[in-house]
Amino acid sequence: MNNMMLRDDALIGKVIVVTGGGTGLGRSMSEMLSHLGASVVITSRKKDVLEKSANEISALTGNKVLPVVCDVRKYEQVENLLQQTIKEFGKVTTLLNNAAGNFISPTERLSAKAFDTVVDIVLKGSYNCSLAFGKYWIENKCAGNMLNIVTTYAFTGSGFVVPSACAKAGVLALTRSLAAEWAKYNIRSNAIAPGPFPTEGAWTRLFPEPLQKIIDPIQRLPMKRVGNHEELANLASYLISDFSGYINGEVVVIDGGEWLYNAGQFTHFDKIPKEAWDMWEQMRKEKS
Ligand code: HXC
Ligand code: NAP
Repeated sequence: MNNMMLRDDALIGKVIVVTGGGTGLGRSMSEMLSHLGASVVITSRKKDVLEKSANEISALTGNKVLPVVCDVRKYEQVENLLQQTIKEFGKVTTLLNNAAGNFISPTERLSAKAFDTVVDIVLKGSYNCSLAFGKYWIENKCAGNMLNIVTTYAFTGSGFVVPSACAKAGVLALTRSLAAEWAKYNIRSNAIAPGPFPTEGAWTRLFPEPLQKIIDPIQRLPMKRVGNHEELANLASYLISDFSGYINGEVVVIDGGEWLYNAGQFTHFDKIPKEAWDMWEQMRKEKS
């Protein structure tokens, strides 16, 4: 990684567990955190994916990356993840709740099991991890830091991804609630709400090819570009670092202005060509 915002010893001494750390944004964030000197644990359901990513990141950064298989929906597996981390590194300082499940569907076409599946990965997975790690920090009188990856529709809501919207809204409530309740134990809790950052996991499920022919996601973006993984990883590194020690209970949006652009009643007037504005101005002046 060439574009790191923090100096490359900024996270020495941190032991960071990244759920969903073997792929996509979780992997990109894990790579930067490891470059910055952290000991990183990556976890998800797929052993082969985790081992490959852990080896590749370690080879790039020279720092240990531990792969641990864990389905975050299962509390006993989360407890095992915590124990494996302590066994390997002697402590844990940071939890990055990044694992998610999602797909697009008209809500009325979903089975109850499909709804459960997404909510269980996103919301139950995040509170399982927060609870297990929080209990550990409180019992052992250690400082802790939790960073949760949500989305901008955690606060706007969105059709066609309703289980995910419900679950991410819950994670945002979890973030803010624990920020208030556990600050006294020196445990911080923040969230990042990314806009579109291309990953195989998200793109195959949310923008499948047949739909790309009907809807062009770039048109929703005022900057006419998607996010760059390093932009997100730098923000996560800052919120994990001690430089952000007084930030607690915050959700930081990183979406190039996407949600505001689409919320503003007249913003889409930017599609009106300059010539039309010139003509309108001319007509207005002629009238007055
Ligand atoms: C409708 C679906 C479906 C789909 C699965 N189901 N895919 N229903 N549309 N596309 C239904 C199944 O039919 C089944 O219900 C139930 O969901 C469980 O499906 P399984 O395949 O058995 O579940 P599982 O193996 O646990 O896999 C979970 C998963 C899968 C969520 C379905 O996609 C996954 O593993 N995802 C992990 C990675 C991921 O989703 N990444 C994207 C995150 S992107 P029935 O009743 O039929 O048995 C993201 C970005 C947000 O969050 C913002 C972007 C801008
Ligand atoms: P991704 O690569 O599909 O990441 C999701 C990860 O979650 C995978 O590594 C997956 O691994 C893991 N996971 C799923 N179910 C799990 C379970 N039960 N237990 C443990 N791990 C599980 O997608 P991504 O785009 O990088 O998404 C990462 C995060 O960013 C998510 O929280 C997503 O909502 C958020 N986000 C992404 C975007 C975007 O544009 N990409 C925008 C907004 C928010 P396994 O399948 O191996 O378990």
